[in-house]
Amino acid sequence: VPAVIVAIDGPSGTGKSSTSKAVAAQLGLSYLDTGAQYRAITWWMVNNGIDIADPAAIADAAGKPDIVSGTDPAAPTITVDGTDVAGPIRTQEVTSKVSAVSAVPEVRARITELQRSLAASAAGGIVVEGRDIGTTVLPDADLKVFLTASAEARAARRSGELKGADVQATREALLKRDAADSSRKTSPLAKADDAVEVDTSDLTLPQVIACVVSLVEEKR
Ligand code: C5P
Repeated sequence: VPAVIVAIDGPSGTGKSSTSKAVAAQLGLSYLDTGAQYRAITWWMVNNGIDIADPAAIADAAGKPDIVSGTDPAAPTITVDGTDVAGPIRTQEVTSKVSAVSAVPEVRARITELQRSLAASAAGGIVVEGRDIGTTVLPDADLKVFLTASAEARAARRSGELKGADVQATREALLKRDAADSSRKTSPLAKADDAVEVDTSDLTLPQVIACVVSLVEEKR
């Protein structure tokens, strides 16, 4: 069986991560969470006192941290200069700053290079999830999926994950981040012309997983 490359894009709260991990595990593929990479570089910027409001300062520092992603879907890992940052990259502080950092072209160039080299070295194939995978990072992917969901469904899922978080506040933060990600100049969040769009609003997670698995199997 030749290596298959699957790109899964979409806004926050559409079930991208849960779906991508499960599809990779089920099909024996590697898995890459590109949002975790942008969160990791943001975590490093915050920890090193880089002014998030200063794109030139972010651009200057973009090459400094060493970001390493483990691509086993059963236990994905992310380290910065050897430190496990899986927990710290999920804080509200990092979440609120990641869109500003990921909009800087030098950051995107750096992270895109890491992503392409991981995809090229994944022997059996890989599921890569993000915002610009089908459009920019891996335009020749064998399958491109664009996951969507209503703002209500996305906010409800995200507040469920954050246990007890206020649904209204979560909804606003999420829409603000998606608006920033969709409107940036360099590789914005967008559906590739040849991506299959799946609206997950009224689907359960197992249904979304089964849908993507069958799309991959059609391509193999
Ligand atoms: O997927 P997740 O919500 O963890 O992504 C965090 C942020 O990383 C996004 O809001 C976006 O700013 C950035 N991102 C990106 N391109 C990707 C993946 C994530 O700009 N391919």
